[in-house]
This record gives sequence, structure tokens and C-alpha cells, in this order.
Amino acid sequence: MEFSARSAYRGGMTTSVALGMPRLREADPDVSARPDTPALIDRFGRVAEDLRVSLTDKCNLRCQYCMPEEGITPIASDRLLTDEEVIRLITIALDHLGIEEVRFTGGEPLLRKGLESIVAATSQMRTKSGVNPDISLTTNALGLKHRAQRLADAGLKRVNISIDAIDREAYHQLTRRDRLDDALAGAAAAQAAGLTPVKVNTVLMPGINDDQAVPLLKFCIDHGYELRFIEYMPLGPRGSWKRSDLITAEDILADLSTAFTLTPEVEPRGSAPAERWIVHENGEPVGRVGVIASVTRPFCGACDRTRLTADGKIRNCLFGSSEVDLTSLIRGGATDEEIAERWRAAMWIKKAGHGIDDEGFLQPDRPMSAIGG
Ligand code: 5AD
Ligand code: SF4
Repeated sequence: MEFSARSAYRGGMTTSVALGMPRLREADPDVSARPDTPALIDRFGRVAEDLRVSLTDKCNLRCQYCMPEEGITPIASDRLLTDEEVIRLITIALDHLGIEEVRFTGGEPLLRKGLESIVAATSQMRTKSGVNPDISLTTNALGLKHRAQRLADAGLKRVNISIDAIDREAYHQLTRRDRLDDALAGAAAAQAAGLTPVKVNTVLMPGINDDQAVPLLKFCIDHGYELRFIEYMPLGPRGSWKRSDLITAEDILADLSTAFTLTPEVEPRGSAPAERWIVHENGEPVGRVGVIASVTRPFCGACDRTRLTADGKIRNCLFGSSEVDLTSLIRGGATDEEIAERWRAAMWIKKAGHGIDDEGFLQPDRPMSAIGG
């Protein structure tokens, strides 16, 4: 099979996929209807080229939007993919499935001992366009201070760091750990190691850090970091999410506009979920800010992601109810092409959208920490 088939297909089908319209008519889920293309295409014509690899479900923070205070029962160690298995699956994704970008996530990926060697092995691989894949990391940055340079040397290009408050108390309350200084030291080390632009992720929760938008943006502008606010999604402890409590993109922009002038960036958003704004202070452009309106302005129609969990399951969506296991295949002696074929089938049945706003929406069984951001 040739990858050229993919682009023709993409052009032909995307017309039926409206950006951010999760209530599209569902097509026939029959895998036999899948076109003969190696790419990770789904029934709505979307093609996944961005692989998210969760390397552990463990974390050293307990962010309220993600984990319960007591943590979660970790994946049994014999069910975790080994470093060699992770590397084999990434190789298959690049060689057989047309993946161009790889992001490592968790839980907290810095808790994975083999992170540097997995990054190094990935950076030696080639995508179908013959270049090294773009490699990034989503992290809370605790301990990154000591590893940023090594990770950059191994081939890591960029980091997204979770910093939900610049006030120490608010950070402590939100993450349930008093570690703001460590996170900030990690961000500074990432910047110094050239893992740029350093992006900062913030989720605002009412009554906890909802007064942090303006001070965080000031801080990020002063340090040359790109701040992105992410609307709180129902992926944390069950029952903790209420639509009526949601701090929306609109609320955030209104709050930021009390201190800054924001003008929309003209670049097309493409499959990137953040809508970006140029920040002006006293008439001068001083930086950028992004808002990821995952709930109020979903971008499912342009999603190009496929996710591998730390125990070797493919999730075609953060909110998907189905997982397809690759571990049993890999441990049962399957060939690369057999594994690739199962992965394609998993993506083919991806739903049109997350349906958070639909009646009867069910939160996924796994919390975010076990799926990967
Ligand atoms: N809603 C929105 N974003 C979340 N994240 C984790 N849980 C949620 C949630 N419930 C984001 C955090 C973190 C990344 C791993 O995922 O911003 O940076
Ligand atoms: Fe850990 Fe990230 Fe979840 Fe916070 S959001 S508890 S840092 S996995």
C-alpha cells in the first residue's frame, strides 16, 4: 500500500467533516468498508498523524481536575509495556501508519526511568517523509531541572508544562502538593536547554485558581513562555465535573481583557486545538496566549491524534469508550503488519466527536492520568 492514497482520500472525505461538530451522522462501523490505505484513517476522513504515548499512569502530583486525592490503582508492572515494546510500537507507527509526530505523556512521563533512551531511539527513526519525527513531552516538570539538557541531547524538541497557578498556595491547593518552585525550575531548565517554545498548560477550576489567569499570563510573558488555557474536561475524579461550573474560553478571554488587549492571530488553526491571540500591553505586542476550548468549541472534526496507553492499548479518542489491546499481539509473536492492521481497525471506528454536551454523555472509565494528555 502506498501513502499517496492517503492524501487523495483525505481530500475527498474531509468535506463531510465540519470542524467541531460532534453530532455528525455516524457512518457504518464495518471495518470491511475501510479503504485500502496504510494510513490511520477513520470513517469521517480524518487521518491520525500525531501519536501520544503514555509512558506511565503514575504521578507525583494530584491535580484536582485529574486525580483523586488518594491517587489511582496503578497498572500492574507486568502489564506495562517495556521500553523495547514501546520502541517497537513507535517504529510500527512511523514505518507502517504514517505517524509524523510523537508526544510522550503520562501520568508523569519523567517518572519513567527509560524516558531518555526511548526519546533517543525515537529521534533516530524516520517518518514517511524521510525526516526525524517531531518529539515533544507533556510534563509537570518536577525534576525536569536535572533532565532537560539530557532530554534535549536525546532528541526532544519541545515541552508542555502544567502550571495552573503562579501563587504558591493556589498551586498547592490545585495539585495537592507544595511544589511550585520545582515546576518553575523545570520550566527554566527547559528554556535554557532549548526545548522551546516552552508551553504552559493551565486548567482553571472555580474557587481554586480562577484568579490566576492574569498573573499567570504576566509571568509567562515575562519569561517568554507560551501560556495556553485548557477548558476543564470531565476526565478527572468521577462526579467532580459540572457543566455549570465550567470556566469557559469566553470567561477566560473576558478576564484577560481586563489587563491586556487581545487580537486574534490570523494563522489558520488547522488541527492544532489552541485558538491563539496576540497579547498587547500599552499598545505594544508582548506575547501570545492560547485557549483550548475543548468543551465549548470542540475541535474533534480536525483531530489527528491516536493514543497508546502505558499498558499497550490504542485509544482513538480521549473520550472513547473502546480500547484495542496491542500487548497480547506483541507478546504473542505478531508481525509488525499484523499489529499495524489492528491499530488501523481501532482508528477506523473512532467516533465523530466527544459528545460532552450530549444528553447521556458517559465519562471514560480511565482518568486522564491513565490515558495521557
Ligand atoms: N481537563 C482539561 N485538561 C486536563 N489535563 C488533565 N486533566 C484535564 C482535564 N480534566 C491536562 C493538563 C495537563 C495535561 C496532561 O492534561 O493541563 O497539562
Ligand atoms: Fe499528574 Fe498531570 Fe494528572 Fe496533574 S494533570 S495529577 S501532573 S498526570
